[in-house]
Amino acid sequence: MCGIVGYVGEQSAVDVVVEGLRRLEYRGYDSAGVAVVTAEALSVRRKAGKLANLEKLLAEQPISNGTVGVGHTRWATHGPPTDKNAHPHLDVTDRIAVVHNGIIENFASLRRELEVDGVPLTSDTDTEVVAHLLGQVFDGNLADAMRQVCRRLEGAFTLVAVHADEPEVVVGARRNSPLVVGLGEGENFLGSDVSAFIAHTRHAVELGQDQVVQIRRDGVEITTFDGAPASGREFEVDWDASAAEKGGYDFFMMKEIYEQPKAVADTLLGRVDDNGMLHLDEMRLSDEDIRDIDKVVVVACGSAFHAGLIAKYAIEHWTRLPVEVEVASEFRYRDPILTRQTLVIAISQSGETMDTLMAIRHARDQGSRVLAICNVNGSTIPRESDAVVYTYAGPEVAVASTKAFLTQIVAVHLVALYLAQIRGTKWADEIALHVSELADIPAAVDQVLETVEPMRTLARSMVTAKAVLFLGRHVGYPVALEGALKLKELAYMHAEGFPAGELKHGPIALIEDGLPVVVIVPPRSGRPVLHDKIVSNIQEIRARGARTIVIAEENDDSVAPYADTLVRVPVVPTLLQPLVATVPLQVLACELAHAKGFDVDQPRNLAKSVTVE
Ligand code: AGP
Repeated sequence: MCGIVGYVGEQSAVDVVVEGLRRLEYRGYDSAGVAVVTAEALSVRRKAGKLANLEKLLAEQPISNGTVGVGHTRWATHGPPTDKNAHPHLDVTDRIAVVHNGIIENFASLRRELEVDGVPLTSDTDTEVVAHLLGQVFDGNLADAMRQVCRRLEGAFTLVAVHADEPEVVVGARRNSPLVVGLGEGENFLGSDVSAFIAHTRHAVELGQDQVVQIRRDGVEITTFDGAPASGREFEVDWDASAAEKGGYDFFMMKEIYEQPKAVADTLLGRVDDNGMLHLDEMRLSDEDIRDIDKVVVVACGSAFHAGLIAKYAIEHWTRLPVEVEVASEFRYRDPILTRQTLVIAISQSGETMDTLMAIRHARDQGSRVLAICNVNGSTIPRESDAVVYTYAGPEVAVASTKAFLTQIVAVHLVALYLAQIRGTKWADEIALHVSELADIPAAVDQVLETVEPMRTLARSMVTAKAVLFLGRHVGYPVALEGALKLKELAYMHAEGFPAGELKHGPIALIEDGLPVVVIVPPRSGRPVLHDKIVSNIQEIRARGARTIVIAEENDDSVAPYADTLVRVPVVPTLLQPLVATVPLQVLACELAHAKGFDVDQPRNLAKSVTVE
């Protein structure tokens, strides 16, 4: 996610835009920049790092006038967070400035076209390509140029642009990525969300899919990409500025839980070609390297470690390679057996976790190749790895991992399928089938989110619980661990996850009257025996007084008689069940923390990125 602001009116554009960027900084803070239309041309300032770096630059090199401008605060996807990759991006004439949020899926082919035309490209971004395309077709009307260019773009994008030759307009466009108009008196605004302009107006218009908008001081014009007149959804913003940053949710964590369908979709975007073949562009391991692998070791911490446990099931199933999964802080101290043929996969949302970083340094010292799965472009762990597969969850502001965790699971499946594709352990049609099953997950997660209300009620009834157990089998076991971790870190409760088969080897002694036990029931389709065994486990604990909270796929009626609370999830393939079964547990932990009056987004004693060992 990135933050975008556009302004046209009577006020100082740089002041309005920077103030809007400050409210949008939670959307990304790798770099920031502004472009203002001034008498002579465009005045542009951009700087890597947080917004404060841009403000410092503006203090040193002020933009003194101009009442029309755009601004951007970046969450890097294509191209590391550097000055040259900071938005706005300009065309060769330096008279067009563009800011962008999203991923242009076909930017590589468009980039090659520009290179053939001899256009000098100065950044690694997909956005710069748009600036040059606009410059090539501009003939005095920026909105027309934007419509022409948007018809050639694929993927998800919000674009906002200005042109020195049209000093009175700002033009925006959107596909699969948000853009809202702020309607003022003698002034109008554009923003990634209402936080951009909430200090000035609460009267907004949400643009629809494939629409272009032109704002002037005295008017707003909306069309389709083909130029037909169109309209957006008008609404009044009834949030305060703080709530606006949270998209109207009470907590960033809840906002990020609800962003999971889009995060999963964005992580899948652009990774499958028309023939169903997987392309992991950032994967810098050669096919020969991949065929040479004889063992995989996954290293990670916390929720990322739980995603690593799920990776074991996926990679062993699709490739038949042996997979070890290790808590990063233990990994190098056990003197692991690592060779050139070992692929070490490091999973890290932040890319800065010291335990994981030290683990991959040890692995590389031993001659192993390292693949990072990371959510922060250009962070330390990907930089020190041989290859990287980025997740595209966008900034995760809440300390508790939610959308990052789900996109890590998606990424490990993509890696597993990619390894299988190169090593030939799965045919192309099998891979295409599994990729299509992944593509159905955003809708499945949406469906779960529409039915999580019982978890809110359940949470309020569990406020006085002294402990909670979580049971799962197969890929449900890492989900049990993740559900327990969420409760520990958010509601400060003792919670433990373990394989349901372990119950009879000791933990069943913990069962007492009223003890809440969450049970993740495997799909019946995958391994019916696993399903039947866990139903027996539910009966065992219920017989001893446990309060059973059962997560089961819809129309699985076999568990209903033994569930005090039954939470339904959509039917998905066995290996993909963590992507839907985790979501109710995230909501449960978030609501329990709230019911207990704790800080949901910044729980006590924790940090978003643990950069010490
Ligand atoms: C999970 O909710 C926690 N925030 C924590 O366990 C986290 O997953 C762990 O610290 C790893 O962080 P990373 O993914 O940034 O490496």
